[in-house]
Amino acid sequence: MAIRYDEEQRTFHLQGKSTSYVMQLERDGYLTHQYWGRKIRQFRNSNRQQYIDRSFSPNPYHRDRTFTLDALPQEYPQYGNSDFRKPAYQIQLENGSTVTDLRYKSHRIFSGKPKLAGLPATYAGQESAETLEITMEDDLLQLEVVLLYTIFSQYDVVARSVQFCNNGKQKLKLLQAASASVDFHRSDFDMLTMPGAWGKERHLERRALQAGIQSTESTRGASSHQQHPFIALMEKHATEEQGEVFGFHLVYSGNFLAQAEVDQFATTRVTMGINPFDFTWVLEPNETFQTPEAVLVYSAVGLGGISQTLHGFYQQHLVRGEYRDKERPILINNWEATYFDFDADKIEGIAKAGSELGIELFVLDDGWFKKRNSDSTSLGDWFVDKTKLPNGLEDLAKRVNELGMQFGLWFEPEMVSVDSDLYREHPDWCLHVPDRYRTESRDQLVLDFSRQDVRQEIIKRVADILESAPITYVKWDMNRHLSEVGSSLLPHERQRETAHRHILGVYEVMDEITSRFPNVLFESCSGGGGRHDPGILYYMPQAWTSDNTDAVERLKIQYGTSLLYPISSMGSHVSDVPNHQVHRFTSLEMRGDVAMAGNLGYELDLTKLTSEEKEIVKQQITSYKKIRRLVQFGRFYRLKSPFEGNETAWMFVDEDKTEAFICYYRVLAEPAAPLASLRMKGLDGAKDYRIIGTSEIYSGDELEYSGIRIPTDLVGDFVSYTWHLKAE
Ligand code: DGJ
Repeated sequence: MAIRYDEEQRTFHLQGKSTSYVMQLERDGYLTHQYWGRKIRQFRNSNRQQYIDRSFSPNPYHRDRTFTLDALPQEYPQYGNSDFRKPAYQIQLENGSTVTDLRYKSHRIFSGKPKLAGLPATYAGQESAETLEITMEDDLLQLEVVLLYTIFSQYDVVARSVQFCNNGKQKLKLLQAASASVDFHRSDFDMLTMPGAWGKERHLERRALQAGIQSTESTRGASSHQQHPFIALMEKHATEEQGEVFGFHLVYSGNFLAQAEVDQFATTRVTMGINPFDFTWVLEPNETFQTPEAVLVYSAVGLGGISQTLHGFYQQHLVRGEYRDKERPILINNWEATYFDFDADKIEGIAKAGSELGIELFVLDDGWFKKRNSDSTSLGDWFVDKTKLPNGLEDLAKRVNELGMQFGLWFEPEMVSVDSDLYREHPDWCLHVPDRYRTESRDQLVLDFSRQDVRQEIIKRVADILESAPITYVKWDMNRHLSEVGSSLLPHERQRETAHRHILGVYEVMDEITSRFPNVLFESCSGGGGRHDPGILYYMPQAWTSDNTDAVERLKIQYGTSLLYPISSMGSHVSDVPNHQVHRFTSLEMRGDVAMAGNLGYELDLTKLTSEEKEIVKQQITSYKKIRRLVQFGRFYRLKSPFEGNETAWMFVDEDKTEAFICYYRVLAEPAAPLASLRMKGLDGAKDYRIIGTSEIYSGDELEYSGIRIPTDLVGDFVSYTWHLKAE
């Protein structure tokens, strides 16, 4: 790892583990992007930019028709002075104009990585990372734009963000402030995005880049189920195992925009950051604006390489707290078992059945607080419902503890029900705009977390509950997107700051609560995986991957999610049949095998299981405890994609390659089906592996190159099979 500035060439060369990222200063301080890809020992710019006269591309230098910003590969492009592609930022001056001109002013290189004020971001110690700070300046405005780049010794990532510092005398208005922009010299890529919907998160979609702009974005006030703040450019021949892939992932949970623009000269500009749609930010003199961080990740070995890098990187440099490296408990959640219809005895009954099966944590989901008998009331009134729980939470938690289980609780702190005491007392505490109808969703409104008084009250209410009982786990839900986005405390010129200020407020509340309760395991949730993003992962080490618990649907959801996120972040439960989301019947075995490929949990009424089913569940839990560390923290390899066919497979290998767990799933039975086999990955070719529970021993190279046969006695729809290997 090194960052070098070459005086003579005026290049900045950032060398990560096996990647290089190079910028160069052009004449008069324009900062250009030169290279990003495989590591280069000594960059001398063999493939340097050529300057030619381009028709209809204006020239900032009088009489030099060969120089135009319109064809220059730029590092942080501006608007208004000859580049007609999309800029990375745009600023409005007091005179109404929107043209700025940034030139290089200075730079510094230092070890470690600075924190980003008020925002989640990747972190690093002094030895494991190095940072380059390039200060660009518009001297007319005395505006400094500081470009931050951090590289990491063990990973092929560049973490980028930008600070806008208004050192001048006039008030500036940021209209756009991207976190990163990269100009590629070529456009022969495919673009990968991760669209979805509620119950269908993070599916994978790949399409060829076309001339013009293609984008993915959220305007919903959250990163969302519908789009994910990630895009990748892939070489045409890139697959799971091979080819170059350039990924962009935003550490942010609000409105975002990620776009790729293919221009007239077949170059590609990728821009990522806060969505400029309905965003402005007033920057008074002496104020600074910090953008969220974008993680740029490179792989020369396909999508598998992207996942290997991000899993390790997020695990080591984003996830924090006591649970970062700890095995996660197997839980039973009462949501699909009872919905709102429970009392303490019913809960204790389910917990007892769980404890007899080896489950370690009971999670009391929605419905435990004042008058919350349906999803239309009481959010914000975080006080125990004494009708359902007459002896309170402490008593219930203790009863659960006596069964040898931990106790966890559900909250939805960012919301208020219209039918709640909180809303009746403070009708102006929600996001809204004057004189307009407040659009409800699930009969609730969004609290205005840009307001400090609102944040303080919610922090107090949640903290009081957490202090009132032995609660060691919190499921932090968020069940609607933002409408009528406005805040009653912001002046008119700052109304378009509301969405971002709200997210900053959400982060502040999460920071406060998670810091005050460091021993609590927090699981984020947003109607399932609507906010499974790197911003939230910084505060909460795991997320509820999807409300869709159907084993077949989960194959695509978990496969897609695994592209970016460590397995230890993925909550995955066995639920009842017919499944509550898609009404499908799948076997308990397959439901278990799918859920075991994440943080295993159960979400059904265990008291209603037959003794045969209880035996199967007991067996699942016993097996999972043996492979839990391997699954949650091992290396993860995708073997067969549910997006490409009827079969899915993936596997987990420990760091020393002495143990592996392989899962195979087939959705539908086929007539005249081919005899299926599976080739493994990540094993040690020189080692021999025993298949646990059998006398079969095979070498790692044989299992990788020749593969293993799928048993022919797997018959019917929705079947699965697992192998547990140990090196001899
Ligand atoms: C949405 C979550 O995703 C569910 O698991 C459950 O907690 C409900 N909210 C409760 O309202």
